[in-house]
Amino acid sequence: MRSFVGIYVTLAAAAVAHQPSARKSLGFGPENPTAKFLTHPAHVPSFAHLNTPRDVALNFLTTLPSVRPGLPLVEGLDFIIRDDSYTDERTGVSHIYVRQLWNGVELSDGDIHLNILSDEVISYSDSFFRGRAPYDFYNNKPAEDHHGTFCAKHAGSPPAEELSWDDEQLVIGRISPSSKSRHINCNTISIVNAARLAFDEADLSQDGFSEPQKALLHFMIAAHPSPEYAESLLHGFEKHLEKMNVVYTYHLTGANHHPAAEVQNVPGALGPVKAKLVYVQSPTLETQLTLAWKFEVKMQDNWYEAYMDASHPSYIHTVIDWVSDAPLPRPVSQPKYNVWKWGINDPSEGVRSVESGYDKLASPLGWHSLPFANDPSQTSPKPKGLRNTTTTWGNNVIAHEDWEGAESWLENYRPVAEDLNFNYKYGPEDKPSSNPKDYINLTVTQLFYTINRVHDLYYRYGFDEVSGNFQQYNFGKGGKEGDGVIANAQDGSGTNNANFATPPDGQHGICRMYIWNTATPYRDGSFEAGIVIHELTHGLSTRLTGGPANSGCLPNGESGGMGEGWGVRSTSAYKDFPMGAWAANNVKGIRHYPYSIDKTFNPTTYKILDRRDFADVHAIGEVWAEILWIIEQKLIKKHGFTDTLFPPQQDENGVVPEGDFYNKQEYRPDGTKKPLVPKHGNSLILQLVINALKLQPCRPTFFNARDAIIQADQILTGGQNKCELWTGFSERGLGPNAKIARSPSKGGNVRTDDFNVPAGACNE
Ligand SMILES: *[C@@H]1O[C@H](CO)[C@@H](O)[C@H](O)[C@H]1NC(C)=O
Ligand SMILES: *[C@@H]1O[C@H](CO)[C@@H](O)[C@H](O)[C@H]1NC(C)=O
Repeated sequence: MRSFVGIYVTLAAAAVAHQPSARKSLGFGPENPTAKFLTHPAHVPSFAHLNTPRDVALNFLTTLPSVRPGLPLVEGLDFIIRDDSYTDERTGVSHIYVRQLWNGVELSDGDIHLNILSDEVISYSDSFFRGRAPYDFYNNKPAEDHHGTFCAKHAGSPPAEELSWDDEQLVIGRISPSSKSRHINCNTISIVNAARLAFDEADLSQDGFSEPQKALLHFMIAAHPSPEYAESLLHGFEKHLEKMNVVYTYHLTGANHHPAAEVQNVPGALGPVKAKLVYVQSPTLETQLTLAWKFEVKMQDNWYEAYMDASHPSYIHTVIDWVSDAPLPRPVSQPKYNVWKWGINDPSEGVRSVESGYDKLASPLGWHSLPFANDPSQTSPKPKGLRNTTTTWGNNVIAHEDWEGAESWLENYRPVAEDLNFNYKYGPEDKPSSNPKDYINLTVTQLFYTINRVHDLYYRYGFDEVSGNFQQYNFGKGGKEGDGVIANAQDGSGTNNANFATPPDGQHGICRMYIWNTATPYRDGSFEAGIVIHELTHGLSTRLTGGPANSGCLPNGESGGMGEGWGVRSTSAYKDFPMGAWAANNVKGIRHYPYSIDKTFNPTTYKILDRRDFADVHAIGEVWAEILWIIEQKLIKKHGFTDTLFPPQQDENGVVPEGDFYNKQEYRPDGTKKPLVPKHGNSLILQLVINALKLQPCRPTFFNARDAIIQADQILTGGQNKCELWTGFSERGLGPNAKIARSPSKGGNVRTDDFNVPAGACNE
C-alpha cells in the first residue's frame, strides 16, 4: 500500500529535481517500457477500395497484435480514431491518432499514431496496453475471469454501431437497452454506463474507487505552491471536502454522450475543475491498467493535467503542467557587464526601426481583424462581419499588460493607435526607464509584433489550422478555433522568467512575460525575441507532437527535455552561440555550455543525460538543442544560409514563387506538385523539425525524435540529407546502436553512446 506521507516526500523530490524554478511545477509520470516507434513498419498491402487514410489506418490496425488475445482489434470497442487526425497538405502525410479504449473507457496513455503517405503506413508508434485485464469495476471484483473471454463470448456480434465523436473525441458504442442493469454487453459498453455506475455506486467509495473530490483535494495539497496553504488543506481535509461540489454532465442528447464531471469550490483552483474517469498504464512489476481520475486544474501559476488513482485517492500517477517556463538563469559566479551583444532582437543591439508586413498566407486578415463572431469581447448575439481593431488585439494574438498577475485579461490595458501607427518611446526620455510601466506601450507593441511574426513564420512551415495552431478564427480551414495567444506583458505573477501554457487545440495558449531584475534599470523579457520565440515554440511542439488535441505528449524526462530544445537559431558566419540572455544579464548564457560544433567547448553527448545535473528538462533540452545545432551547421555547410527565414509572399494567383528561397518546384508522375523544399540549410532544418514533430509519437524519446527527423527528410527530399543527419546525430552519441537501459540500482537510466553512422547512410 502506498502511504500517504510517502507520496509527499516523492513529490517534493520530484519537484526539486525537475524544476529548479521559482514557480512550483510538478511533472512526472511512468515511462511505458513497451511503447515503440517504427519508421520501417512491415508493408501491409492496401486495397483499391481503401481510399481514405482512415481506411488505410483501419486496415493496418488489423495487422497489429490484438489487445485481447486471439481476437482482432475492433473499432468502437478497442479504440477510436480521434477527430484531430489530419492530412498535412504540404507533405501529403496523414497523421492519424488512435486512442485505446478498455471496456469502453479511454486509456489516457494508450495511443497508436500512424503516418500515412500514398496509401501506405510509413511509420507508426504504439503504446497500447496488451497486458492482464484490469479490475472489473462494473462488478466490483477482480476481473481475472474476464481476461480474454469477457469479450470473446460476444465476438460473433456486430461491433458497436452508431459510432460518434463528442467534444473529447471519444467514440461511444450504442447504449444497450439493458444498460441500466448491471449486465454489461461487450459490444455496447459505453463510457457513459461505466461512469454512471461509478458515480452512482455509493458502496464503491469504500473499497472500489472514490468520487473525484477526495482525489482532487489530495492533488491540491501536493500541488499548491504555498506549504502553509497545503498544510491548512491537510488539516481541514473533511471540511474542504464537504464544500466541494460535483456536477456530472452527461450530455445525453444527440452525439454528445461523454460523461464528465465538474468539481466546484476546489480550494486553490481558479474556477471549476474538469474531471473524467480514465485508465492509466502503471508499470509496477508488470504493466497494469488502473482507473484514475483525470483532472484539468487551472491554478495561478500552473495548469495541470493530473491523473489520480481512483481507488487510492492520494496516489498521483502522472502530472503534466501545461505551463512551461523559460530556462532559468544559471547563477552568476562573477560580476558581468552588459556589453555583450546577443542576436538582433534585444535592445543592446541598437536602434529600433519602423517595421510592417504580415504574411498574407498565414494571416489573411492581417494582425488586427477578426470576425465579431470569434471575438471574445463581444457578447451574444454577436454582430456579423469583421471587427477591425486599433489596438494589440487580433486573430492570432491579444496582447496587454498584466501588472496584477491576474487571470483576467479582457479589460487589461493595451495601447490604442487610431492610425495604426504604434510608435512609442522606451520611457519618457526614450531610454530604459527605472519604472517599466513607463514604457508599457512599447512593451505590448513589441510582444504583439514578435508573436504575430512567429505565428506567420511557423504557419509557412506547416503549423496551420488543421495541425492545431493558435487563432481566433480558422477561415474554415479545419482545426479548432477560438484559441489565439493571450499575451501578458510585464506579468506581475513572477520575475526573471517567462512561461507558456498549451492546453489542447481550441483553448487559448497563454504567454506570460516577466520583468527581469537582473540589471538596473530592470529589463523587460518581452524585448528579448529569443525568450518570446522559445515560449511560442512550446506551443508549437506541444500541439504538433501526438496531435492537436493531446497536450500531454511532452511531459517530462527526454520528451519534456526536447520540449525545451526545439528552438533553432543561427547566424550567417558561424560562431559559437552562448544561449544567454540580455534579460538574464549574463554573458555566459543560461545553459551549461555554449552551442558549439567543437567538443572542446561543448562536450555533451547523449550519455550525459545519465548525470544528475542533467535531469532537469532544461538541461535535457540543452543536449537536444546542441544536437540540432550541429545538424543545422552541417546543412548550412551543404546548402548555404538564407538571411530571412520567411518564404516569399504568394502572388495574385495565390502561387508562392520559388524565388531564391525554394528549390525548383518538382512534380509527381500524376502531375501534382511535390512540397516545396527550402533551399538553404537554416530554412531546411526548420522545415525538417516541424515536419518531424508531426511524425513523432506522443512522449517521444531522443531515438524517436531522431528517427522522425530522418524520416521527414526522406519524405521531403527523398533522403538527400541522410548522411548529414546521421553524421550529426552520431557525433553526439545518437548513432543507430545507442541504447538506454533501466538500472534502478544506478539511480535511473544508463545510456550508451554510439558514434557510428549506419552502413549506407553516406555512400549511396
Ligand atoms: C473591417 O474592414 C473590412 C475591410 O478590411 C470591412 O469590410 C469591414 O466592414 C470593416 N468592419 C467594420 C465593422 O467596419
Ligand atoms: C501610452 O500611449 C497612450 C496613447 O496611446 C498615451 O496616452 C499614454 O500616456 C501612454 N502611456 C505611457 C505610460 O506612456
